[in-house]
Amino acid sequence: MKELLEKIRQDAKEAIDAASDLEALNAARVRFSGKKGELTAVLKQMGGLSAEERPIVGQLANEVRGDIENRIAEKEADLKSKATEMKLKSEKIDVTLPGKKEVLGKKHPLSIVLDEIKEIFIGMGFDVVQGPEVEYDYYNFEALNIPKDHPARDTQDTFYITDNILLRTQTSSVQIRTMEERKPPIRIIAPGRVYRSDAVDATHSPLFHQVEGLVVDKGITMSDLKGTLEVFIKALYGEESQVRFRPHHFPFTEPSAEMDVMCFACHGEGCRLCKGEGWIELLGCGMVHPKVLENCGIDPEVYSGFALGLGLERVVMRRFNIDDMRLLYENDQRFLNQF
Ligand code: DAH
Repeated sequence: MKELLEKIRQDAKEAIDAASDLEALNAARVRFSGKKGELTAVLKQMGGLSAEERPIVGQLANEVRGDIENRIAEKEADLKSKATEMKLKSEKIDVTLPGKKEVLGKKHPLSIVLDEIKEIFIGMGFDVVQGPEVEYDYYNFEALNIPKDHPARDTQDTFYITDNILLRTQTSSVQIRTMEERKPPIRIIAPGRVYRSDAVDATHSPLFHQVEGLVVDKGITMSDLKGTLEVFIKALYGEESQVRFRPHHFPFTEPSAEMDVMCFACHGEGCRLCKGEGWIELLGCGMVHPKVLENCGIDPEVYSGFALGLGLERVVMRRFNIDDMRLLYENDQRFLNQF
C-alpha cells in the first residue's frame, strides 16, 4: 500500500506539472484527491490493515494528500498569474499610436453669407422676421399690386396648390404680413426659401433663397434706400466696392431700381465674370408703392418706405466665385469643405 501511495504521489506530480491550463489542473484534482479519486480509493482499503500498519499508512496517506493539494495550489497560482499576464499583454494600449480624427461639420456657404447679411442689417437696427412658405395668393401677389391678370405673374412660374394657395415665389409676401402686424417705424429683413417652377440648370433651381428688406417710417426717401444699400454692400464685399442704381420696374415699388456692384474681377473694365459689363446685377429695390402701403392700412400720405429683394444664391456665387448653382444643393463634402 505504501508503494501504491508513493505511485499516486508520483503520478499526481507529473499530471500537475503537465497541466497547461486551469481545466487540466482541475481534472488532475478530481483524478487524485477528489471524492472518487485514486487516493480515496486507497484509503477505503485501510480497513484490511493491521493495527500497527494503519497509523503509518494513514500518516503517509495524509502526507500524500497534503503534498498533492499544495502542489495543486501552487500550480493554480502560477497558472492564474500567467493568465493575467497574457491578458495584460494582449490588452496593452499603445498611447503612441495616432488617434482617430472626428470629422467636424461646417457651415454651408449659403448659411455663411446669410449670417453675415443678418449681422450687417441687425447692426443697422433691423429685425429678422419670417413668413410661411405655403402662402395665400393675396400675400404673394394681390396685396403687392400684382392682380390676377398682371403680366408679372408670367415671369414667376408659380407652383399653385389651390387657386388661392401657392408656394411663395418671393419673400416680398413677408412685407405685407409685417405691415399688417406692425406699426411704423418698421425695419425688417426676411430671409427664406422661395419656389418657382424652373428647370434645374447652372443658374436656376425650383427652390432658392431670397432676403427681403423693408423700411417704413415718416420721411423715408430714396436716399435712405441708397445709403442703406451702400453701407450693406461695403460691409459684405469690402470698403472699396462700388454700387450703381439702374431704373427698373416692379409692381410693388415706385420708383423701382436694380442695384449693380462693380465687378470684383475687373473693377469695371469688363471681363468674363461680368460678361463684359464691368458691373454685376445684385438686387431689386425701390420705394414701396403707395397702393401697397394702403393695402396694409398704412397711410401713404403720412408714411413712406423702401424695399429690397436679393437672391441669396446669386450673392453667394459671386462672393465665392461659384459658377454652378447646383453645387450649393448637392452636399458634396469635397465642395463644402472648401469654405
Ligand atoms: N420680389 C422681387 C423678385 O423676386 C425682388 C424685389 C424687387 C423685392 C424689388 C423687393 C423690391 O422688395 O423692392 O424678383
